[in-house]
Amino acid sequence: MRTRLVVGNWKMQSTASAAEKLARKLATFKPVSSVDVAVCPGFLHLPLVAQILAKSCVELGGQDCATNPGLGALTGEISAHQLKDVGCRYVLIGHSERRLTIGESAGVIAKKFTAAVEAGLTPIVCVGETLEQRRQGMAVEVITGQLDATIKKLGVEGLGGAVVAYEPVWAIGTGVTASAEQAQEMHAAIRSVIVSASVSIGDNIQILYGGSVKATNAAELFSMPDIDGVLVGGAALDADEFLAICAG
Ligand code: 13P
Repeated sequence: MRTRLVVGNWKMQSTASAAEKLARKLATFKPVSSVDVAVCPGFLHLPLVAQILAKSCVELGGQDCATNPGLGALTGEISAHQLKDVGCRYVLIGHSERRLTIGESAGVIAKKFTAAVEAGLTPIVCVGETLEQRRQGMAVEVITGQLDATIKKLGVEGLGGAVVAYEPVWAIGTGVTASAEQAQEMHAAIRSVIVSASVSIGDNIQILYGGSVKATNAAELFSMPDIDGVLVGGAALDADEFLAICAG
């Protein structure tokens, strides 16, 4: 049985006071059903949010990490070890905004994934196709390629302690959600890629959906057999909306 996981990605959207206000509201969250909840604030606000959420049920994640796991001379980077040190359990790896806007390659993403595992974090590796790739019928091929790059570097065992997030680029921040059926089809494809390398890892890995998730569409997504949770952007900035998604 896979536990449901709801993760809020605050992206580069908050000031310190907004992050503080949001975290204070989330700190009161009491899950009614079995659900793990985490938020990924901007790096600058991690210590503040960690302090507020310390005694709560809400865990912390980073939005990215450096390719080197430990401390070192790498100006401007944040290491997985530093994320662990501040109280993070998770880290997002390979978000499409980093793949497409910052230009992160599959090789860089695989290194970041390794660094996260070495530091004891749970990587949430993001995969997803663009609208153009979907129109060309290449959606499954694209996400399979993105996953394979990680599997090739680490072996399928590397995915053992990880989470996968399917985030179609065309659904991120657009208000257009993949239908529950479209998402299920892609989640099943992702699971079968992993199952073909390891049945137990494929069966047990949590696969999250991300892309315009709201309280009004979360329950339908959760009802799908291969959707184990959600990665929420815009709606995670509103505590009531985010908690309604967690209540599922
Ligand atoms: P939205 O929920 O704003 O579409 O963002 C999704 C996302 O990118 C989460 O990582």
